[in-house]
Amino acid sequence: MLLEINDIHVHYGKIAALKGISLEVDEGEIVTLIGANGAGKTTTLKTISGLRPLSAGRITFDGKDISRLAGHKRVLAGIGQSPEGRGIFPGMSVADNLHMGAYARKGDLSKELAEVYELFPRLAERKGQAGGTMSGGEQQMLAIGRALMAKPKVLLLDEPSMGLAPMLVQQIFSIIEKINERGTTVLLVEQNAQQALQIAHRAYVIETGRIVKSAAAVDLLDDPEVRAAYLGGDLGEPESIAADEPAATADGPAKD
Ligand SMILES: Nc1ncnc2c1ncn2[C@@H]1O[C@H](COP(=O)(O)OP(=O)(O)O)[C@@H](O)[C@H]1O
Ligand SMILES: [Mg+2]
Repeated sequence: MLLEINDIHVHYGKIAALKGISLEVDEGEIVTLIGANGAGKTTTLKTISGLRPLSAGRITFDGKDISRLAGHKRVLAGIGQSPEGRGIFPGMSVADNLHMGAYARKGDLSKELAEVYELFPRLAERKGQAGGTMSGGEQQMLAIGRALMAKPKVLLLDEPSMGLAPMLVQQIFSIIEKINERGTTVLLVEQNAQQALQIAHRAYVIETGRIVKSAAAVDLLDDPEVRAAYLGGDLGEPESIAADEPAATADGPAKD
């Protein structure tokens, strides 16, 4: 097992956000964690990447107990994260944002850069553009690309489809599949359960800090409770979502 989370408890002050979460991600898998707003998805990812401390429980990665390991050492160990809300550097160019993703690595990054530009041709076209002037979808691509620059063994994705227009949502999910096919294990957190379950191998459902279900993703697509709670009832159509608005001054030409 590449990543093993064992009965973790996490608190914000006195409030318990995670009340004994256990989950596993095997090498090569896409595992999705679905759940409503406030269920504890982001907290789970932040705890795996070392941004939140454990109150109890254990996290094992690649055969080692990393429960107390500092966040930057987890990046070096192979845990890459594309955070909720993207967290790109708005004043830095696309290329510099990508380089930041590999800050902890030494040596030539041209191969990694070429791979990211191949996955995201849009980023290649806009190398010199300030990150903050990219549209929402482009910023999402940049955040994923930046995480890939560190060559992670597992990529943690926090709601990559949030706020994107339906066409871009499709695009992001198919790129996630491609990243996985090329050998990166993925732990995908989503409110967009329909799409996440379609690309994932296995899935966990989280409700108020606890895992309430785990199964093969295809089985959850057919699960009446999951359909009622997360897939919009009978049809399971994804909800319509907000358009992909440019973040600031809209699309300028690439300046490189
Ligand atoms: N910084 C914080 N301070 C206090 N409570 C928080 C903080 N971040 C999250 N929480 C609480 O922890 C719970 C889980 O939040 P979160 O992990 O962000 O859920 P999700 O990502 O599933 O929407 C929620 O009840 C939320 O209000
Ligand atoms: Mg969240």
